[in-house]
This record gives sequence, C-alpha cells and structure tokens, in this order.
Amino acid sequence: MPPNVRYCSEEEIQFLPPYFKNTGDTPEPVLCRTEGRWPEWLSGTFVRTAGGFWSVPLSEDGSKPDAQLQHFFDGLNVLHKFEFVGGKVTYQSRSTADGVIQKAKKSGFLHTLIFGLNPNTALRDAQDPCWARLGSQASIRAAAFTSIILTRELIVGTDFNALQILDMKTLEPKRIFTYAAIDPELAGYGICAHPPKDRKRGHIYNYLISDEGVMYIFAMDYASNPAKLVWKTALPCKPCYIHSLAISSDYAIFVRNPVHMDTSDVSKPVSQMLTLETGESTIFYVLDKNTGSIVATYKAAHFFFFHSVNAYDYVDEKSGLKTIHVDLSAYSGDYCSFLDYNFSNLLDPACPFALPRLVRYVWGVLDGGGPAPGSLVPLGKLGNGVDIPCPAFTSGIVKTDWQTGKFLAWRPENGESAPCEPVFVGRPGATDEDDGIVLTIVINRTGTHSTLIALDGKTMREIARAVMPQVLGFGPHGSFIEEPGLYDGMKLY
Ligand SMILES: [Fe+2]
Repeated sequence: MPPNVRYCSEEEIQFLPPYFKNTGDTPEPVLCRTEGRWPEWLSGTFVRTAGGFWSVPLSEDGSKPDAQLQHFFDGLNVLHKFEFVGGKVTYQSRSTADGVIQKAKKSGFLHTLIFGLNPNTALRDAQDPCWARLGSQASIRAAAFTSIILTRELIVGTDFNALQILDMKTLEPKRIFTYAAIDPELAGYGICAHPPKDRKRGHIYNYLISDEGVMYIFAMDYASNPAKLVWKTALPCKPCYIHSLAISSDYAIFVRNPVHMDTSDVSKPVSQMLTLETGESTIFYVLDKNTGSIVATYKAAHFFFFHSVNAYDYVDEKSGLKTIHVDLSAYSGDYCSFLDYNFSNLLDPACPFALPRLVRYVWGVLDGGGPAPGSLVPLGKLGNGVDIPCPAFTSGIVKTDWQTGKFLAWRPENGESAPCEPVFVGRPGATDEDDGIVLTIVINRTGTHSTLIALDGKTMREIARAVMPQVLGFGPHGSFIEEPGLYDGMKLY
C-alpha cells in the first residue's frame, strides 16, 4: 500500500476544500443570476453527477461518529441539472442516495460499494466484520456515474452492473435495475461507466464478465422498445477492469487494460482489489459493429487508461488498408492514478498526481492542480515551507489540436478555482468542430458557491455565467441533452 493511503479522520477532512465536503442539494428549481449573454440557440438540459455527501451520519441522534468516505470516487451522488431556455438558466439538484444515507442512520453502518478505504473505520480501530460482505452488495452511489437521458426520465450508471432511474423533472430516484432486466444474457458484473453510443444505429456498447469469469462485449439496441441485446461476443482473454470502450463508425474497440480485480478477498475496498499486471501488453480487440465478430487483435506496449476520447476508421490512401485511430488518455509505466485520489494523498502538501497523456482535438481539463491565484479554498493542508500545497484539484480547461500542435487554455480568475470536466455543446448548424460553447463549473473564491461558465469554443473566452445557490461537489461527469430527448421512447425497466 502506498504510504499516502491511510484513513483520514473527521479532524483531517476539514482541510479539504468544499467540493470534497457535503454540499447538500437544491430540490426546488431556482432561477440563476446570470452575467454575460447566454446564446439564444442554447436550448436543453445540462446534467452533472457529482459527489455530494462524503460524511454520512451513522445515528439519528449524533451519538456515533460519522462515516467518512475516503476517496474522490466514493462521494454519494448529488445530481445537478441546469435548464436553458431563451437565455435564462434554471438550476436544481437532488441527492440520489437518500436510501443509502437513511439505512446508514438506522443500521449504524454505511453499506455501499466503496472504492477507497472503509469509511466506517471511525467506529472501530479494526475493520468491521460486516465489511467482508460488502463486495457483492453495491448500492447506487456515485462520483463515477455517467448519465443518459430521456424526456421524462433519466438513467445513471457506473462501473458496475446497476442502473438507476430518476424523474427528469424532480430528479427523484425511482428504481434500480441491472442489464439482466433487459436480457438475462446480460447477468454478471463488469460494465463500464462510459458505454459509447452509436446514435445512427441506436446501439450502445459495453463489456460484461459472467459468473464463470468469461469476458464479453455486447451491443444493446436502446432505440427499440423494449431495448434488446443485439450481439454478445466472448473475448479470448482474462477478465480485466476498464472504464470506457471506444467506437469508430464501423467498429467497436475494446482495449484490455493490464489490470484486473483480485476477488480472493472481497473484504478489501475496490482500489486494493485492482491488481496491475506488471509488464503485460495492453491488447486491442476490434469487433464488427454489425455482427460482433472479432476482426482484428493488436498487442501494444504496456499502459493503463481510464478514458477513451475518440476513435475513427478510414482507408489509408497510400496503403489502401483500413486504418483505425483510437485516442486514449493513458498512463505509462506501472502506475495508475486511482490511488492518488485518496483524501490522505490529497491532504498531503506534496500531493503528487500522475498525469495521463493525450490525444487529438479535444477539450480537456488540466489536471494536477495548478495556479488558483487568490483562492481561499486551497486543496489540502497548508504547506510546510518545503513542499507547496496544491492550489486546486484542477487548474484550467484546454482545447488542443493534435494535428497542428496548437492549444488554447482557459484558467479561472478572481480567486475562482477547480473547473470541472468541460462539456462542449455545438451550435445547431455549425460546420466547424469548435463552433459552440464549452460548459464548465468553478467554485468561488471563498468556497460558498459554484458558478456555471460558458466559454466560446473558438476563442476559449468566457461569454456567460450563471451563479448556483450551492457548491458543486467534485464529480467527473456530465452530459448535455439537446431537445428533444435522444432516447425518447426507450422502455424503462
Ligand atoms: Fe469516467
């Protein structure tokens, strides 16, 4: 275990910035105070998942210490929603883990699948024996959630075979189901938080590990009613852990990470079950989108990745060969960043983050902290004069063009900090790929609230903002849904 992975007490947690503390929610819609000019063409809904509860009460009367979640991925979810109509911005948010929190209050123990260390450790010096049963008892929780949307209902999923349905208007959680409810063939575990969607075909692609330990890739038709399995293909390799797949126009590409889940001791948190396969190749499996057949397999040098960014296929003019490009955000060497995000590490003044490498034309967040001049909410404890505290979890937003080497960066000003993952919204009718706006959210100088910011996609300059009535907990994912809903008509399970 790296030295920076240890349980942080309530006392230490107070040094974390507000975006890693309980944010609460705003269930009733609020009209945001805005500045600048929100584009008239912008019509739709922007949804973000975010950690919203990291301290969870374990008693009704406060007689027990709170459970303290210990890892950035473990925050219990608050779903944030912005609606854009005629230049006006409305905001509301809602906790989607009320059931988990209520259960913790009643039982005196937080039962949920946890990536980092056991949050109940404050209760006892030793790990609670109940912990050993948690491996298969995932409750819906969240920072790693991604979302898809319907007109009236919203589905969120994560790196686990579970989907949660929420009411689109009120964000109220309604029910949870697994992919097996769509087709019994989809029973098992695996499942990544970023199944790529082919909007033309109406298909979604994901991976699955059967109880027998066979790894499959499958295509699901989400546009049919009811949704149905299209194909399911076994891969000739050991099960592994991945967080995203890639698709080009003709192919689904599964990149086998050289890391797997060691389930010999399910009392361990997920981050400690993940086992890197030192020196093993990273393997690319290319599957025909129509049939699911494996058309090519390639071995690459050893690397680890979380996110695919883009993929496309074309016939190379010189060789006449079909060629596929896949862009990934990759970590080289025998290291991956998930251990960096333990709060014990974030609180350390040295605060080392591993930085992935990219990529092509893309909007991204500048990781690894960086300047946040004037911010009164630095990340972690103050420095000791030798090491410098990390000023913020993320430092800016960047647009980079791999082909030309050009990039444009935007960093928050006036003490604002920690911009979240950007989401690009193209202007209807645009022909240039950067004609539109880039949405991100920053926390204000004193840490009392967050603000949604729109940047011009071409110039990366701020054009408008909308002030939120609360803090956005840090969470990696969001989606913009143009009107009408893309998945309207999909049968809900
Ligand atoms: Fe992700």
